[in-house]
Amino acid sequence: MPDNRVPRPRRFLVCEPRHFAVQYAINPWMHPDTPVDVDLARGQWAALISAYRAHGHTVDSVEPVAGLPDMVFAANSALVLAGRVFGSRFHAPQRRPESAAYETWFKAAGFDVYRPESVCEGEGDLVPAGRYVLAGTGFRTTPEAHREVQEFFGVPVIGLQLVDPRFYHLDTALFVLDDGPEANIAYYPEAFSPGSREVLARLFPDAVIATREDALAFGLNSVSDGRHVFIAPGAEALAGRLVRRGYVPVPVDLSEFQKAGGGIKCCTQEIRS
Ligand code: ARG
Repeated sequence: MPDNRVPRPRRFLVCEPRHFAVQYAINPWMHPDTPVDVDLARGQWAALISAYRAHGHTVDSVEPVAGLPDMVFAANSALVLAGRVFGSRFHAPQRRPESAAYETWFKAAGFDVYRPESVCEGEGDLVPAGRYVLAGTGFRTTPEAHREVQEFFGVPVIGLQLVDPRFYHLDTALFVLDDGPEANIAYYPEAFSPGSREVLARLFPDAVIATREDALAFGLNSVSDGRHVFIAPGAEALAGRLVRRGYVPVPVDLSEFQKAGGGIKCCTQEIRS
């Protein structure tokens, strides 16, 4: 088993869960009648930020906006590659104002923001992996947006069809383990159409395969720095497989955010310079 995996320090953008709540249902995890423990949510989120900082990562924060309870899911705000920001256009009307709030942060931080013409939910559905951007569709981000992403970045976009409403964003079913042209991934095959499964098997023959239990525990909604994998504690089988591949799981429990259909990666936007 390799034990020489080298972490790369990351710059993350996050949004404090000051106004986090489940007030509407736009995915099967959300039940507005189930109460969210706001104090617990804040504590869990703070533990995630501490874990990032303890592992040498830089964390920037966007000011949360009252009335936007899903704004905590920073990953949906954009895809940032080489300092270029491809912004968001949300599927659900309830989330549409988030795009402008994030755009304000990006502009103040010195970035121009491209506004997509089609529905596109940022890193929720757009995952840079090696030579490609993997792009989910089926529930949120559209194939038209995939074309805009390819045109904007000039990077080949691989469209992947999501088929299970529980895994409505690509980042609930797949994450990237490392950098570089030969980057590897972990994923849950049954979240994808048969053809998309075949594409993933061809492109990533050594991928780490997750179980349904791992996926339902939000284990694929993880963040890797190339060595440490910040991962939901319920994804036990997946964590074991990662250890055998030389990665170091760092368990972080975001159970309150799962009530909104989100986990670690959903709360984390990567700023790639
Ligand atoms: N409630 C949010 C929604 O349904 C959760 C977003 C999760 N974000 C993510 N990157 N998967 O839009």
